[in-house]
Parts: sequence; C-alpha cells; structure tokens
Amino acid sequence: MRYDTLIRNALIIDGGNRPGYPADLAIHDGRIQRIGELAGATAVQDIDAAGRVLAPGFIDVHTHDDTVVIRQPQMLPKLSQGVTTVIVGNCGISAAPVSLKGDPPDPMNLLGERSMFVYPRFRDYRTAVDAARPAVNVAALVGHTALRSNHLTDLYRTASVDEITAMREQLRESLEDGALGLSSGLAYASAFAADTDEVLQLAQELTAFGAVYTTHLRSEFEPVLEAMDEAFFIARAAKVPVIISHLKCAGAGNWGRSPQLLAALEQAAREHPVGCDCYPYAASSSTLDLKQVTEAYPITITWSTPHPEQDGRDLNAIASDWGLGLLAAAERLQPAGAVYHGMDENDVRRILAHPLSMIGSDGLPEDPFPHPRLWGAFPRVLGHFSRDLGLFPLHTAVHKMTGLCAARFGLQQRGEIREGHWADLVLFDPARVRDLADFKHPQQAAEGIDGVWVNGVCSYVEGQASGQRMGRFLPRHGDLSRGFNSAD
Ligand code: ZN
Ligand code: CU
Repeated sequence: MRYDTLIRNALIIDGGNRPGYPADLAIHDGRIQRIGELAGATAVQDIDAAGRVLAPGFIDVHTHDDTVVIRQPQMLPKLSQGVTTVIVGNCGISAAPVSLKGDPPDPMNLLGERSMFVYPRFRDYRTAVDAARPAVNVAALVGHTALRSNHLTDLYRTASVDEITAMREQLRESLEDGALGLSSGLAYASAFAADTDEVLQLAQELTAFGAVYTTHLRSEFEPVLEAMDEAFFIARAAKVPVIISHLKCAGAGNWGRSPQLLAALEQAAREHPVGCDCYPYAASSSTLDLKQVTEAYPITITWSTPHPEQDGRDLNAIASDWGLGLLAAAERLQPAGAVYHGMDENDVRRILAHPLSMIGSDGLPEDPFPHPRLWGAFPRVLGHFSRDLGLFPLHTAVHKMTGLCAARFGLQQRGEIREGHWADLVLFDPARVRDLADFKHPQQAAEGIDGVWVNGVCSYVEGQASGQRMGRFLPRHGDLSRGFNSAD
C-alpha cells in the first residue's frame, strides 16, 4: 500500500485532552488511514516530523467569515493559524438566509456591504460555499438578527406572532438544509428589543433537529449574570444545548467577576448541556457603539465610513485633534468599528482555562485594521498562554480548539486524530509556535505552523498557502445534545 502522505515521528496530540504520544500517521483518500509504527510504509509525500506536534486541524467555533470564505477562499488568516474548519453565522448575524431591503443593519454590516448579501435561502449560501471551494471547511449558524431583518418592519420592537411564525419557518427550512443551529446577538440594538419569548419560540424550532443555540448575551457588562440566566432559561425551556459566545466581563465596573460567571456556567452545566467560547485577548471588537464610549480604557477605531483616514487611531487622539469630546468624535465617525480595551487580563485567563470554554477567534475579516485575534488567536493560546505562561498543558489547549469543539457542534469524524477520521491536521513546532499579530501590526501570520492539511490535502506549508483549497460545507449531523454528553 502506497499512501498519499506519511507524517513520521510526530508527537500526536489527538484532541481528546490526553497527553501526546509519538507515532507515524498515514493519510489516504482524505482520511487518516493508519496511526502507529509505519517504518516500512511508503507514500507519495513523506515527511519527517521529529520534534513537532501533529494535532487535529483547529476548529474556529466563533467566526464572522460568512462572506469572506466565498470572496477570499484562500482564507489565509485562518489557514496560517492551523484552522481547518470555521463556524460562521455567530452573534445573530449570518449571510443567509437574508433578503435585505436596504443597507445591512448594524452589526450585519460586519459581514460586508449590501452587495455581499445574496443568499435569500440557506441552501443558496451552502451552494455558494461549495462552488467557491474555500481552503477551510465551513459550518453555519442562522442569525436571529438576520431573520429579524427579513421579517420585521422595525427592528426596535419585539416580533409579532405572525413575524415569529415567518422566522420559525425560515429557520426550520435552514435547519433542513444543514444549518448547525441559531445564534443571537441580543446586546445589539437590532435585537435588544426582542423579548425572551421571541427568542425562546425560535429556539423551540431547534429541538426536533437536536440543533444548538449560541448567544452573544443581552449584556456583557453589569447585568451579565441576568443575561446568562436568560440564555439558560431559553435553552432549558426549548431543551436545546446552549453556547455562550465570547464569555467575558466587559467594562471596568465588571472586572474581577469571572469566578461568578464561571460558577453560574458550572451550575447550569450540572443540569443541562452548556458551554462557552472565548478569545485570548483582553480587548473586544465590533462596530463602534456609542453606549460603550468611555474614558475608562482606550478605544481604537478600526474603520470609519466617513473618515477612513482615522483607521487604526485612538479615539482619544481623534477627539483631541478635532477639539471634540469622545462621544461627539464617535458620533462623527459613524458608521465605524472599534477595538475596546475593556477587559481585565485575570478574567480572560480564568475563562480561557475553564474546562467548559472553547477557543473561537471572533475575528472580523472585513476590517481594514482588524483586532489581532483574526490572525493570532490559536497560536496565542498554544504559545503565549499554554507554553509561556503555563496556564494549561498543551494537550488541553489543543482540546479546546479541536475535540471539544467538534463534540459541541456535532462535527462528525473531525476534531480528533483517529483512524478513519477526516485528515484535517496541523503540524506545528511547540517550541516556536507564537502569534505575531498585535494591536499595532494586526495582519501577520503566526510563526511555527509548519503544515496544514484539509481533507487530506496539504494546504499550507512553510508559511505559504499551497494553492490547494479542499474545504467543504459541513451540514449539521445528528443530535448535538448527545454530543455534549460524550465530551464531558
Ligand atoms: Zn458577538
Ligand atoms: Cu462574534
């Protein structure tokens, strides 16, 4: 038997939160064919991986890559980190199913301008992803705000009975066409007016499919515990698993409360499948929200439609150049995007280290001056947090970006290195891996990612995309609530 690829002498960290073991691994026909001692075997491509770690390709569970996987299918910001699957449609915003009547409402504009929204049905999006052949696999949630924008004449009120019925039908059709579940972004003005019952009724559509509910909470500031309670209530009432998106303590008045949040998460997890994702930085990023303008910490402008010359500048500096207060300057910049340095590092570390948390980049690929998480999140966890700070062992870091994610989102035969699984793999140097993207120079590929295979094909090697794009659309499989139990 001549294999497609042999990777010899690697330390295999299999994604199951177990320490690594040395072995050879053979890839054939897109799958992991053999793991073991394969000294006598031959292959078209033969790689000596001594001193390096072979892990399952990373699964970025929290992305806004909805339209970029089609427009820039090489997906270098993710591929260069070792990511082989992205989950799109988070925070209530998705590219599908969407029929816009005008410009995309905030924050749907994070996914691109009006012309990017050309998928009235979920299956149109799915077809477009497969046609674009992105370099990474794509699985997709349906956004609550996206549904609202289709069916509500006014986003600043809760939905009527008829509007809820219409949204439920569209959600059901999307689930039948392979959507993973429903996401919400209740903190944003375009969804904040939705009452709990509106979201619950949509979540009830997930139950029959065993699909998942993910939520950018109604608040990440002082009322964050109440917002978590709302999420748990919805999930329990609808009998669906729930993932809290980018769990954090936002705002200076909220620092130090991560133990309370994690205790609430653990308490809920005793009775119901719950989890969270997080990104490894003490700064958030989204559209510029006037309610979040503060003097308590720095805010960087990442884009501004009327003032693109201010991209990458501090709001404070812009305001003083203009002889304005912060709020007046922010108003003049709208619509705009921002990075808010509004978290405490200790909270970030506690949430990152918690066994219920997965890694999700929350990167914003449209941004001309993006938060560095877009290019750096995964290597930063491996290098900075695991190796340099010793926050958790390397195999736990890998688990939080592979096996745990695949179980939570029902991505079958991915996320763990096992014979028969799809060969989504990353080879990295554990001594050298590190993120180079930072807040000053945010668009830089990481160091130490030596090879990435997607569906068995070498897609990134020695700092370069190979040009092969083997990603595919991953439809929902089976019942996610069962997947949760097997992961714990
Ligand atoms: Zn969000
Ligand atoms: Cu997000």
